[in-house]
Amino acid sequence: MKKLSLIATSAMGLEAIVGKEVKDLGYDCQVENGKVMFEADELAICRSNLWLRTADRIKIKVGEFQAKTFDELFEKTKALNWGDYLPVNAEFPVIGKSVKSTLHSVPDCQAIVKKAVVEKIKSHYKTEGWLSETGPFYRIEVALLKDIATITIDASGAGLHKRGFRMDQGGAPIKETLAAALVLLTKWNPDRPFVDPFCGSGTIPLEAAMIGQNIAPGFNRDFASEAWDWIGKDKWDLARQEVEDKAKYDQPLDIQASDIDHRMVNIAKENAEEAGLSESIQFKQMQVKDFTTTKEFGVIVGNPPYGERLGEKREVEQLYREMGQAFSTLDTWSIYMLTSHEGFEELYGKPATKKRKLFNGFIKTDFYQYWSNVRPPRN
Ligand SMILES: C[S@@+](CC[C@H](N)C(=O)[O-])C[C@H]1O[C@@H](n2cnc3c(N)ncnc32)[C@H](O)[C@@H]1O
Repeated sequence: MKKLSLIATSAMGLEAIVGKEVKDLGYDCQVENGKVMFEADELAICRSNLWLRTADRIKIKVGEFQAKTFDELFEKTKALNWGDYLPVNAEFPVIGKSVKSTLHSVPDCQAIVKKAVVEKIKSHYKTEGWLSETGPFYRIEVALLKDIATITIDASGAGLHKRGFRMDQGGAPIKETLAAALVLLTKWNPDRPFVDPFCGSGTIPLEAAMIGQNIAPGFNRDFASEAWDWIGKDKWDLARQEVEDKAKYDQPLDIQASDIDHRMVNIAKENAEEAGLSESIQFKQMQVKDFTTTKEFGVIVGNPPYGERLGEKREVEQLYREMGQAFSTLDTWSIYMLTSHEGFEELYGKPATKKRKLFNGFIKTDFYQYWSNVRPPRN
């Protein structure tokens, strides 16, 4: 069993949520800007890839050191224990970034690291000549920050927001990792109704359905590290068995997804079918101002249009007013809206209980939260 330094990378603003997910998986962790770090074994690579809903990727930290010259970068990279990770036939491209560092030419840093790893692999496996690089894929990254080089291997492959079912996207989809974070921030539980009145391609309700039935987000995809011998098929089998054992496919859900645009509703439906979750979500074409319900203690999460495009602003402002009206009698419901429009609260007609700054891609947004002050009765 190896002791590994693992990093779950995170979008800016989601670090604490990724950290909570890592802790819930049973690993003590340290939360920093853009990443959550934890020490664990090989099985943790499988489990974190399969289960983390809000992390971008899982990386293994091979080493971290100061590097102000190319010689230093070369020697210290070569000194790392590459033979513990890479087989002799590994395919290992090197990517890089450099921020506020003496070594600022990223292509040169990549080439130096590549050369150092090649030399180490050759001496470790006592081989001469070209390395074939026809084997399993290991993407190495050299990241320099203030002259400190962090050398990692990517254990995920495609980013973890790729859930493994084909998503037809429509206009302005939200990333799956952010959608999951929004749902987790509401503390919704599957005994309560859940509504996304701006469902678009269905990203938020699909994440809610997976959370509600405790379905691992990575259940249907593969990961770069699945091809690595030193982790082994038995660990992956164990982790996938845990995914099966913990899923609650019978958990009833009351999730409603609607959109004004019937084409988007169809796309959302198809995506839910693809994910095997179409039974768990009711879809309908509806504009938000027509929303009514007799249910209680529900949660509404929406990612409405922001009105950033020219000519859209007034329409969107009218939409926010209509939404405020439509939701004004929902005393037992909690309502959450993500938008970049700074006048949201005024247009909606009520100050939020809480606002949380989040990035939707590069767009600075706020997650406006209206908590109900009526508590559900205890059973
Ligand atoms: C930013 S997109 C939502 C994207 C969605 N979260 C996804 O991941 O695909 C906003 C959606 O709001 C819908 N919309 C605009 N005006 C609406 C209204 N008055 N009532 C309901 N939906 C509306 C649009 O059709 C669009 O699909």
